[in-house]
Amino acid sequence: MLDPRLELAFGDGPPDGQLLILGASGQTGLAGFDPARSLLVQGHFPDHRALAAQGWQVLTDPPEGPLFDAALVFLPRAKAEAHALIHAASARLRAGGALWIDGQKTDGVDSLLKDLRGRAAVAEQHSKAHGRIFRIDRPDGDWLPADWAAAPHQAADGFVTLPGVFSADGVDPGSALLAAHLPPRLPSRMVDLGAGWGWLAAQILAREGVETLHLVEADHAALDCARRNLNDARPQFHWADARDFTLPEPVNGVVMNPPFHDGRAADPGLGTAFIATAARLLTGAGRLWMVANRHLPYEAALARHFARVDEIGGDARFKIIEATGARRAGKGGKK
Ligand SMILES: C[S@@+](CC[C@H](N)C(=O)[O-])C[C@H]1O[C@@H](n2cnc3c(N)ncnc32)[C@H](O)[C@@H]1O
Repeated sequence: MLDPRLELAFGDGPPDGQLLILGASGQTGLAGFDPARSLLVQGHFPDHRALAAQGWQVLTDPPEGPLFDAALVFLPRAKAEAHALIHAASARLRAGGALWIDGQKTDGVDSLLKDLRGRAAVAEQHSKAHGRIFRIDRPDGDWLPADWAAAPHQAADGFVTLPGVFSADGVDPGSALLAAHLPPRLPSRMVDLGAGWGWLAAQILAREGVETLHLVEADHAALDCARRNLNDARPQFHWADARDFTLPEPVNGVVMNPPFHDGRAADPGLGTAFIATAARLLTGAGRLWMVANRHLPYEAALARHFARVDEIGGDARFKIIEATGARRAGKGGKK
């Protein structure tokens, strides 16, 4: 099935020629587009994996090489990331190629349309389902501001980020509070679940005793930043979904600041799944340190997966939890 706005724009068939699609999720209805003439770019691991399983050709980054005849951009929530995707799509389109932009009103599609209308003619547009899709035929030359291109940003001393990564403008206060509660010595084999651009990982590596640190992160761009930010031989980088991540051998420490949004929707189930993974990765004597927004209901999941759970700090906004006695599936514990 085609999504309702795509049906309005492409009900008579997809654009001619080679099509570049940026930002589609695993749930986007793309039926009707031709997998042989479409190349998708998606750096979020669960969406990338779902799209590939549906038979699409999917890359993590826009390709270099021959220019495309058309591009379709699904707007993300972050404005800087939206600008970067549109810039990337335009840079890979031949002059005159159709640039389609689809987005929700809540993600700023109307203000983007207004902005772009000042730079190029809008050839077609449709509104439906609280959003809009519109087409611009790519003008010749540089028609977009150069600073729309994705460029590394100095988020903290020695740390770069890219548009759209979590907390791209600076250290997350929850992660800072968690780091302040980590002991001076940590276990030797550690995991950082949802490691982002690596700030918390750097705090882990600065503690005594750490021999290995596995960074697990779904956002390809964030993990690339972490690779650049951690100048250390001990980290191992895993582009993966923390919910089903496994390691061949158990570890003795997990640190995490789990996400609680899946795309646009608040989803405490994500944090609950991270807790289950932490328990699965740990030895029975291993330890979990995590930070969570105080209102998030993680207590039942923690009690289900760990024998001992303590709140070791926090403030009005966050709670810092330490847990041990992981009940690993298959080791006599409950799942
Ligand atoms: C609250 S942020 C914490 C980031 C980092 N640890 C820090 O302190 O800045 C949560 C991170 O989890 C990542 N994430 C979201 N869903 C994920 C999943 N299913 N698997 C792995 N990582 C995920 C997000 O991209 C984000 O970087």
